[in-house]
Amino acid sequence: MAEGINVICGDAVDEMKKIPGGSINLIVTDPPYNLSKNYGNNHDSMTLYEYLKFSRSWLAEAVRVLTDDGSIYFFMGMRFISYLYIILEQELGLTLQKPEALFLRMIKNA
Ligand SMILES: C[S@@+](CC[C@H](N)C(=O)[O-])C[C@H]1O[C@@H](n2cnc3c(N)ncnc32)[C@H](O)[C@@H]1O
Repeated sequence: MAEGINVICGDAVDEMKKIPGGSINLIVTDPPYNLSKNYGNNHDSMTLYEYLKFSRSWLAEAVRVLTDDGSIYFFMGMRFISYLYIILEQELGLTLQKPEALFLRMIKNA
């Protein structure tokens, strides 16, 4: 891959498949939270089964391209964070480091 900044437009999972394994040191991502928000597609309105399948696919690719000392930071809603944590820890063998950021947005009159 060329040095510098490369902006790649496309499906994240498909595009990650083209990246050599163990070549990325840091991944920062804001994937769908599956809260039925309108992003102009139906990616945020999946069944639980579909969402876990999608999450497994991008997490597996992310871990594959990561260097051995690499890190993944991702934003995630409370509703599904525990599922992603289990996939990362139990299925993909990653270790949670001390959470470095945790944002909770509580709404008084939701
Ligand atoms: C939580 S939003 C992130 C919004 C982004 N941080 C912003 O400020 O515009 C998740 C985004 O991921 C996009 N998305 C969903 N599935 C994707 C995929 N397979 N590849 C790339 N982007 C995807 C959605 O369309 C949506 O824009």
